Amino acid sequence: MAAPPTARILIVDDEAPQMKALCETLRDHDYETVGFTTGQAALVALRETKFDLLLTDLMMPGMDGIALLRAARETDPHLVGILMTGAGSIATAVEAMKAGALDYILKPFELRVILPVLSRALAMRRLRLENAELEKRVRERTAELEVANKELEAFSYSVSHDLRAPLRAIDGFSSILDRDFRHGMPDEAGRLLDRVTTSARRMGQLIDDLLRFSRLGRQALARRPVNTSNLVQAVLQDLRKLQGDRNIEVDVGDLPECVGDPSLLQQVFYNLLANAFKYTSRKKEAKVNVGHRMENGEGVFFIQDNGAGFDMQYVDKLFGVFQRLHRDEQFEGTGVGLSIVQRIVHRHGGRVWAEGELDCGATFSFTLPPPDLPASP
Ligand SMILES: Nc1ncnc2c1ncn2[C@@H]1O[C@H](COP(=O)(O)OP(=O)(O)OP(=O)(O)O)[C@@H](O)[C@H]1O
Ligand SMILES: [Mg+2]
Repeated sequence: MAAPPTARILIVDDEAPQMKALCETLRDHDYETVGFTTGQAALVALRETKFDLLLTDLMMPGMDGIALLRAARETDPHLVGILMTGAGSIATAVEAMKAGALDYILKPFELRVILPVLSRALAMRRLRLENAELEKRVRERTAELEVANKELEAFSYSVSHDLRAPLRAIDGFSSILDRDFRHGMPDEAGRLLDRVTTSARRMGQLIDDLLRFSRLGRQALARRPVNTSNLVQAVLQDLRKLQGDRNIEVDVGDLPECVGDPSLLQQVFYNLLANAFKYTSRKKEAKVNVGHRMENGEGVFFIQDNGAGFDMQYVDKLFGVFQRLHRDEQFEGTGVGLSIVQRIVHRHGGRVWAEGELDCGATFSFTLPPPDLPASP
């Protein structure tokens, strides 16, 4: 390991012999020292080169130690200062600290007293510098993130506008083809035309879903107490309307109140229940359970179904955007629902996970942090 660089100490004392003696003694202890008998001269030196520590006498004609320290810290805010005083009093100590002094030592002092004070002050300076460096990095990262976010917004904008326009043309012209020329078309041409129309609509859906997903990251969270039971009942009512005469047995257990953004939490339950309904559509007796349990002191909401299930080998893929474990011919979908669920739960500071078995159903569980914990940005 490389030896740390020698610390540079600026020593100021109007009594020249004392100043020189201190310079020499500290030099013997591997410090680099430069001495002056006036504050003005010290300030000139400080503006020209960097020092790690200022060790200054308090009482000096002209500029005293406190004034010197103030001026020095304007030149280098991370400089650490120690005052030396013969007339120690609480009032001077307080004033010295206010001026930014880290410590003060009473004269006449012994070397064994001053050395630990110096090394403590230098350690403090290192911490301050590291802190400043970290803050600088955080600022840089934040700025980079802001730029990335802006780019993403610009990207979403161009997706919605640039891609939607040609898509509308494809959709519109194929509808005209269908309406005005269908009768003269060979069967195969008609089938191909249908595929063009279906694909164009599907692409429109993908674009809408992608935009919905990217918008979620920017929308502010409005957290408040939410009556989970009412919310789930409302979602179930909406979903049932879309099921026709399907017979689905839904069991809703006791659900405690939770705290979060009501419309986003509604979206979570909607997407999970919509999946439960969809992936049980091939079962004769579809069953869906919605419940809440305590696990290691943590509340867990869960939605369980006895539907198509999935192979646990691919469980990591489920929550990715556009990731699907079932083909469109089996179950329709764009593969965005669960990624939206995950994003919302994470933004509330919670976790979401899935368990399933091929052909034997699936269970999706999530936690929401207790109300007193802050949500993640
Ligand atoms: N209840 C479930 N049972 C079995 N598999 C599921 C269940 N829920 C989700 N999956 C699997 O996870 C994949 C991703 O789900 P997700 O909800 O994100 O997309 P989707 O349902 O395919 O489409 P959509 O964007 O319309 O919701 C699904 O394609 C399916 O393979
Ligand atoms: Mg879905």
